[in-house]
Amino acid sequence: MCGIVGYVGPQAAVDTVVNGLRRLEYRGYDSAGVAVVAGGRLHLAKKAGKLGNLEKELAEHPLPTSGLGIGHTRWATHGGPNDVNAHPHLSAHERVALVHNGIVENYVRLRGELEAAGLTMTSETDSEVVAHLVAQQVEAGARLDEALRTVCGRLEGTFTLVAVDSQDPTAVVAARRNSPLVVGVGQGENFLASDVAAFIEHTREAIELGQDQVVRITADAIEVTTFDGSPAEVRPYHVDWDLSAAEKGGYDWFMRKEIHEQPRAVADTLLGRYDANARLTLDEIRISEDELRSIDKIVVIACGTAFYAGMVAKYAIEHWTRIPCEVELASEFRYRDPIVGPTTLVVAISQSGETADTLMAIRHAQQQRARVLAVCNTNGSTIPREADAVIYTHAGPEIGVASTKGFLTQLVACYLLGLYLAQVRGTKFGDEIAAVMRELAAMPDAIAAVLDGIQPVLDLAAEFVDAPSVLFLGRHVGYPVALEGALKLKELAYIHAEGFAAGELKHGPIALLENDLPVFAVVPPKGRDMLHAKVLSNLQEVRARGARTVVLAEEDDHDVTPYADVLIRLPRVSTLLQPLVATVPLQVFACELASRKGHDVDQPRNLAKSVTVE
Ligand code: M6R
Repeated sequence: MCGIVGYVGPQAAVDTVVNGLRRLEYRGYDSAGVAVVAGGRLHLAKKAGKLGNLEKELAEHPLPTSGLGIGHTRWATHGGPNDVNAHPHLSAHERVALVHNGIVENYVRLRGELEAAGLTMTSETDSEVVAHLVAQQVEAGARLDEALRTVCGRLEGTFTLVAVDSQDPTAVVAARRNSPLVVGVGQGENFLASDVAAFIEHTREAIELGQDQVVRITADAIEVTTFDGSPAEVRPYHVDWDLSAAEKGGYDWFMRKEIHEQPRAVADTLLGRYDANARLTLDEIRISEDELRSIDKIVVIACGTAFYAGMVAKYAIEHWTRIPCEVELASEFRYRDPIVGPTTLVVAISQSGETADTLMAIRHAQQQRARVLAVCNTNGSTIPREADAVIYTHAGPEIGVASTKGFLTQLVACYLLGLYLAQVRGTKFGDEIAAVMRELAAMPDAIAAVLDGIQPVLDLAAEFVDAPSVLFLGRHVGYPVALEGALKLKELAYIHAEGFAAGELKHGPIALLENDLPVFAVVPPKGRDMLHAKVLSNLQEVRARGARTVVLAEEDDHDVTPYADVLIRLPRVSTLLQPLVATVPLQVFACELASRKGHDVDQPRNLAKSVTVE
């Protein structure tokens, strides 16, 4: 969950690396650092806090000019977020500088060995241990890539490591296991990074590094080997988005920009997935139709917001396909000995494609011979690479730590999967599938309409800026929407927020209600009359206890008016698709409220975008 950059070429390495770090800061922002090689020495700057602190330090104490450097932006695991624990870490005689993303699980033993040999650690990190181990190899005559290969063989856990040798001003070397690393292929220059966003302004040609591989880049060459030293097959790809997608484009926050990109992101995720007769063609699903017909159970695994997308998927998939579908937190999945087998389809949802909990869960499922399908937004990331099949969402880069367009496009991908399974298994008629596809095709306009009428939600955020607690209620697919609304508020505004299935209120949470407590309620469309009526009863219970109701209901639903202190209107859509429009006001509310509280919306405290530790 840290961001890593490496550069070699004719540009000023410090600037190139720091610019890259700026685009990776969403991955972690507890501290940042950079190291360059110049004049046969390593030169280093690192500072606790956000990248701005490092930039200030570099402005006051510039590093020498160099064409080779590495950098790091940290999300702390071992050791607090201070200057000393910041990366890069130097080896004892300052021969090697190294940055690390991940966790070295056997570092205590390795550290003990090094200390027994007389070395003194300066930091509390597991990463420093690796710098010393690599330096031992280099000082014994190994080339840096050889040294890294040897040391990786001794490490347990997850890691991306990037290192430079003070005596070799031509090469940056990196290794990866279960943690992301991509190579940016330039003209007379090359890059390493946790994510292509770091080098997209210089090149859109990239190579995804496989598991347990080491890469050595110079200005003109890229050598990839496995940990045992054999040449590895490289998988080049072209990044289909550009710098403008990775910039704020006039918005105050990436999150706000990404909320407003949702009509486009949803449209892009639908693009090319169906023909004129609304027959679905999901080319990326590399599981045969026969196999899909033999599936007797679906298990959706995911974390956080992606998990809530999975909850919505369950309603849609079971309704359209009649295949039993479970949804499980990826972090819990493998620890409860789940019942999965060759006729189970495991659907792993992950925006980043690097979430360690989800990755470990799919590996467990594959050991039980289940087929794994990933829903992912990040080309070249680990989860889709290890899955048997993938549906890519085409949201473009999501930089704000709080997921927004990632969520909506995950919903779209899950709807497509459900409809595709229904088509393959014949559980829905073609015209029924076509009707839903027509509705999905209209969704970008519906979402745009919600955004066009968003001012009342912005005003509401101003009104509730000091609310100590906010509750969210929903039933059916409105329940995951309520959970998502609460998560957004927790992670951005740092206030108590909880989502409940509205029917559960009376079983306990109703005790939380008091005068003026804001309670948001997602009211289902009127077509499901029983469901609709039940939510109105729940609203009545809330109002009777003096709480303030903010009711999200479709236009023309006049029955809700007596129960709403504030009414937020949604376009008319069918029940199963309602999360695509109902989530948007809740995203905007959390973004605006956090912004008014003076919080950093894109980089909320204690969080990181991509959680690559379990
Ligand atoms: O990259 P992933 O979709 O696997 O990430 C899963 C969660 O970490 C993520 O959705 C997290 O909950 C977001 N910060 C929520 O806004």
